[in-house]
Amino acid sequence: MKQYNDTHWQEQMKISIDYNNIMSDTIGSEHGITKTELQLLVEPVKEIMNNINDRKVVGKDFLGFLNLPYKSKEEIQPIISTADRLASISDIHIVLGIGGSYLGANALIKALLSPYYNELPREKRNNRPRIYFEGNNIDSDSIYSLMELLPKDKPKDISEHYSINVISKSGGTLETAVAFRIFQHKIKQTYGNEHNKYIVATTDIKKGNLREIVNHEGYESFVIPDDVGGRYSVLTPVGLLPASITGIDIYELLEGARFMAERCKTDNVYKNPALSLASFYYLLYKKGKNISLLSIWNKSLEYIGYWYDQLVSESLGKGGVGRVPITGVNTRDLHSRGQQIQDGARNTVITNLITKKFNTNIQIKHDDKNLDGLNYLTGKTLPQMIEGAYLGTNYAYTKDKRPNMNIIIPEVNAFTIGQLFYMFELATIVEGYLLGINPMDQPGVESYKKFMFGILGRPDMKKYKEEFEKFPSGSKDYII
Ligand code: PA5
Repeated sequence: MKQYNDTHWQEQMKISIDYNNIMSDTIGSEHGITKTELQLLVEPVKEIMNNINDRKVVGKDFLGFLNLPYKSKEEIQPIISTADRLASISDIHIVLGIGGSYLGANALIKALLSPYYNELPREKRNNRPRIYFEGNNIDSDSIYSLMELLPKDKPKDISEHYSINVISKSGGTLETAVAFRIFQHKIKQTYGNEHNKYIVATTDIKKGNLREIVNHEGYESFVIPDDVGGRYSVLTPVGLLPASITGIDIYELLEGARFMAERCKTDNVYKNPALSLASFYYLLYKKGKNISLLSIWNKSLEYIGYWYDQLVSESLGKGGVGRVPITGVNTRDLHSRGQQIQDGARNTVITNLITKKFNTNIQIKHDDKNLDGLNYLTGKTLPQMIEGAYLGTNYAYTKDKRPNMNIIIPEVNAFTIGQLFYMFELATIVEGYLLGINPMDQPGVESYKKFMFGILGRPDMKKYKEEFEKFPSGSKDYII
């Protein structure tokens, strides 16, 4: 039996939320939530949860992410087989995708692998490829630099072999499509008729240009289910395949998500972590806390923050409402954002993401000369120092009535990251329904695209180019 199937171990790995310091008992009712305010949300949240379960909410066609942790082994195994095949034939793996087709996979990999993974020799990477993300911009220099890592001629040995995973639900997103065209030309040069062995695509089952390319070229492919929106797709092949290519145990990840899904079956706000989070953010937003800092106390989780930024921004930021999510990594950002969070406008709720146990325990040694004056730390470990830092920081926030709460992760592993993804996703949609918006669409993202395409000359977007050109170009008086 795998460790992550052991119920005792699962209990030890349970994520918890400590919300003492957002409550009025601790920081007063101007900035903190009263018990009555929370109690008044119990029934509305229960109703929302029941409507979600009965698929009676707006955006109901995109709630498929709720079922993803319950995928059977038979559905997951092909992902692992393809991942193993690509890992055995290539040592550079390039993932092309943007937004929901990028941020989750990147977060997962950065959370669970060494920050210097790509620099390790292949045997220390368990014979899995180095991994790079592109197609998330239209930055010539960045793409060029990645191309420079690829062999000029036929690969000499495994270290020069490369493979590509292109991910796009719509199959037509500009950034990803452009990068794919560039890398596809390159890979065709390298491998000729054999090139299709080195490419895999993840896209819609039948719609879109990418699906057409897949059919035409005979590429292996995976499907993003119709009922799962981009930013909710990390537990589909979108996140699972890149993770599996690097050897991450995706069963463990899904088991973690399932563990959280089970905890979230109750409609009781006080017991369901996702419902609690949604309620806290909603009530604090009503008290003017419209900036939301995810304050991360473990460097490896930084990209979970960027994934969460997108989840919240695209799900909640619409119709003139929605808190603004920002990510900070401490103690690094105490030296940049720290001043403002502690002392600036009173519009921020701080959510600490705290790891209880690090994988290593570097200890400070005694130094006879003590020129740096650090001997008072002799024998202390870096995890103990981080703990001192967050205890001190949170106390300073609390003393100044700045709402802060802790999401506590016993340790970073695939099981706990799976819990985190699921909890944040469910919490975000519940918060959206509390705000009275549809958390599953993203109308704002579409607005800029038509003008960009028009300006770039896409034939069907000509009228937007004309509209743009009619708009006064601005006065020279306002340019210095
Ligand atoms: O969450 C979303 O829907 C978006 O961020 C998309 O994931 C992003 O725009 C990429 O779209 P696609 O997967 O169609 O290329």
